Amino acid sequence: MKALILAGGFGTRLRPLTCTRPKLMFPVANRPLLDWVMEQLSKNGITTVILAVNYMADVFARYFGKSKYGMRILYSRETKPLGTGGPIKKAEPLLNEDEEPFFVLNGDILSTIDYRALSKAHLDSKARTTIALHEVEDPSRFGVVELNEENQILRFVEKPKSGEAPSHLINAGVYVLDHSVLDIIPDGKEVSIEREIFPILADNRELFGHKFGSLWVDIGKPHDYVLANKVMLDMIAAQNHIERGSKVSKKAKMIPPVAIAKGTVVEADAVVGPYASLGEGVVIKRGSRVENSVLFPHAWVDCSASIKNAIVGEGAIIGSWVKIETDCIVGDHAIIDNNVTLTCNVKVCPSKNVSESILQPSIVL
Ligand code: GDD
Ligand code: MG
Repeated sequence: MKALILAGGFGTRLRPLTCTRPKLMFPVANRPLLDWVMEQLSKNGITTVILAVNYMADVFARYFGKSKYGMRILYSRETKPLGTGGPIKKAEPLLNEDEEPFFVLNGDILSTIDYRALSKAHLDSKARTTIALHEVEDPSRFGVVELNEENQILRFVEKPKSGEAPSHLINAGVYVLDHSVLDIIPDGKEVSIEREIFPILADNRELFGHKFGSLWVDIGKPHDYVLANKVMLDMIAAQNHIERGSKVSKKAKMIPPVAIAKGTVVEADAVVGPYASLGEGVVIKRGSRVENSVLFPHAWVDCSASIKNAIVGEGAIIGSWVKIETDCIVGDHAIIDNNVTLTCNVKVCPSKNVSESILQPSIVL
């Protein structure tokens, strides 16, 4: 089977880091999110992947090329954003060869979903579209379904207002679509599959759901991204993720699971982990702590700093005794001066210099 991956979103909720790279290329345990997704697709027997790209399209082509993990990679390039439905229609010429059902994936999801079981459920139910469903506590940020006992979706509501969700079962962003669904997606314009196509299919009783209980994280907001990194580190904890060519002092304390890329330096008395990913060439000076955080390549952390539940962009410089706390994002090449504290949800734009503490959610432009 083929899989079409929606990879063209702007990732606005992860700005400023998405100003310089697409969300799907964010490192998760030091590998791009989309790379993990691709690997899993190949393990599930997918032979061809179509990447529907728009924003920063070249970054994908450069990284993935024409084949990866034994799969053929094709690109469907948009010249303007087409939403979550328009790109599927646009890719029709690439899907036409066989007219078989195909997978569609939101590319910003980390999951251990069993694609084979989803495909089987689709064929068994004779649905026109089958959606993978996942149960969450707060469904308001997602597409939510009302499901009957035969797994037919009676209603699909995208991002319902609080208190109006029909259930806690959400669209996990993975579908099997019959080829005929392409006939009802308008051509050449922005289309939301969730708001414009799923409701039609639900009304016709052609939309089915397939519940799965395994792991699932959508990387929409900073908090989710840090969580995805944590979940992935747990999944691969049994392997050693301290790469060759990194220099970790014997006097540093590494609390697993962690991912340490090549060229990284961790000095004495530093504490790294649990759940820290340090990208290539990161430097952690003496006495600093990094916990449940992602540091992009070449971030540099001076002595006795502390970074917890946060994201530090490429080449950013963190001064000594700096504290960076929950859901903060330090943009690429930003400089945080010595002794500064950034508490919950501060976003620092690329190359900015912060010289005073910021103790409330804010954006440094
Ligand atoms: N090619 C292309 N072109 N891709 C796009 C475009 C576009 O114009 N716009 C968005 N995408 C891609 C994004 O890159 C992402 O991989 C996917 O479409 C979904 O877009 P998001 O912006 O991440 O949507 P969401 O997270 O708010 O909601 C969607 O995902 C939820 C599950 O995580 C919906 O499908 C919800 O119903 C669902 O529950
Ligand atoms: Mg999303």
